[in-house]
Amino acid sequence: MSPIHPPFLFLFFFLFLHCSAQSSLSPTDRQALLNIRQNLFDLPGSTFFSSWDFSSDPCLSFSGITCSPDDDDNNFLRVSVLTLGTGLTDSPGLGGILPTSISNLSALTELVIFPGRITGQIPTNLGGSLPLLRLLSISSNLLLGPIPPSLSNLPFLHTLDLSQNQLQDSLPPSLLSSNPSLKVLILAYNGGLTGPIPSQLTSAPNLLHLDLRGNSFTGFLPPLPSTLRFLSVSINSLSGPLPPISPALEFLDLSNNVFSGEIPPAIFSLPRLSSILLNDNNFSGNLSLPLSSDTTVKWAVVDVSHNMLTGEPPAGLAAADSLYLNDNQFTGAVPAEYIESIYNGSMTTFYAQSNFLSVFSLPPATVGMAVPASASLCLSHNCMLPPPAATTGCPASAQAHLSRPSYQCAAVSGGD
Ligand SMILES: *[C@@H]1O[C@H](CO)[C@@H](O)[C@H](O)[C@H]1NC(C)=O
Ligand SMILES: *[C@@H]1O[C@H](CO)[C@@H](O)[C@H](O)[C@H]1NC(C)=O
Ligand SMILES: *[C@@H]1O[C@H](CO)[C@@H](O)[C@H](O)[C@H]1NC(C)=O
Ligand SMILES: *[C@@H]1O[C@H](CO)[C@@H](O)[C@H](O)[C@H]1NC(C)=O
Repeated sequence: MSPIHPPFLFLFFFLFLHCSAQSSLSPTDRQALLNIRQNLFDLPGSTFFSSWDFSSDPCLSFSGITCSPDDDDNNFLRVSVLTLGTGLTDSPGLGGILPTSISNLSALTELVIFPGRITGQIPTNLGGSLPLLRLLSISSNLLLGPIPPSLSNLPFLHTLDLSQNQLQDSLPPSLLSSNPSLKVLILAYNGGLTGPIPSQLTSAPNLLHLDLRGNSFTGFLPPLPSTLRFLSVSINSLSGPLPPISPALEFLDLSNNVFSGEIPPAIFSLPRLSSILLNDNNFSGNLSLPLSSDTTVKWAVVDVSHNMLTGEPPAGLAAADSLYLNDNQFTGAVPAEYIESIYNGSMTTFYAQSNFLSVFSLPPATVGMAVPASASLCLSHNCMLPPPAATTGCPASAQAHLSRPSYQCAAVSGGD
């Protein structure tokens, strides 16, 4: 044991001062963290809060916290990122009531709460109190009540995810029109979000990804902003004809609503649109593709099943990997192009059961070939006896009736 030399003692002292000065959290933020800790708890099996020991420095030792210098007061650090919960898939997450004191962490740029059972309402003033917010994600918890309009006018907010909670009421229009940086808005599977999708959607300045599926929205779908790439409004009560679809779109899911009218042919000429899910609606009329169809379009999936579509299936849809035409009123022949795509392996799923199709004839290009084992086909319950290979992919519900009873087919085959 040698005594510490005075110059070293000075150095230690200096380092100590320096560190403690750097790491002192603002008293307001410290108080807010204490309050958060008092209101939330680890569900059995979660150990998130085990590092939250207030006898040590939150900025250095608490999990889920990032501190940054306070722009207004150099003596203090502020909490800039708060991530509650571990996010591990096997962690049950946190419980408790969302504390309003989160609003006191006014330097937050990111607030993330991982899946758990946190309930209560989103503090009314949350947005107004957290002007620097870039990311707000509280998904798969039990939040109640409305989405506060204060989550607007946030200049930096790029992602808002409040999916899989129990939020209710209408979508504040200003959320769409007055968040200049908003790129990703996910409000899926709350069930209780109601009213129309605000017409302000059309003028959302930077929106790329909008997911409203699994709610109770009604009314028409407004014209989409030209930036939009991903749209799902599946499982709502939206109705009326479709608006013009924006050319940047890559994924479109309008399934399980009551949209009606014809499917606009232009949907099938959008250069980047790879998934088109229009099933389980009230679309009617003949399905057609634009005359000058772009042959480079190759869809991953086109699903127009469970509508009231009529006429012959358009040959151009042979370019889909998976094509669902089932449960409509299609008549005539299965296009030879579809059959070639199935035999050459480019179309892997073709469901057309429960229509009024009357012809399935093998085109010359398929002579001597077999349906690839990977293909999944179902052509039962039409106005013909499908070849055995064309029923092996049938879902159990479609296996009972290989063909329609002839009286149902009299009208459609009458003209033959
Ligand atoms: C939050 O801030 C308000 C207003 O400054 C204050 O009255 C309240 O005590 C703070 N709450 C906590 C938990 O820090
Ligand atoms: C479905 O469309 C038809 C017209 O094609 C219309 O008469 C009917 O009311 C629509 N049903 C719903 C539920 O919108
Ligand atoms: C729809 O298709 C059917 C059968 O191909 C055709 O007879 C009919 O004229 C078409 N209707 C319209 C409006 O194009
Ligand atoms: C398969 O057949 C379709 C329809 O005739 C054709 O467009 C496509 O180019 C073919 N693909 C391959 C890999 O041969």
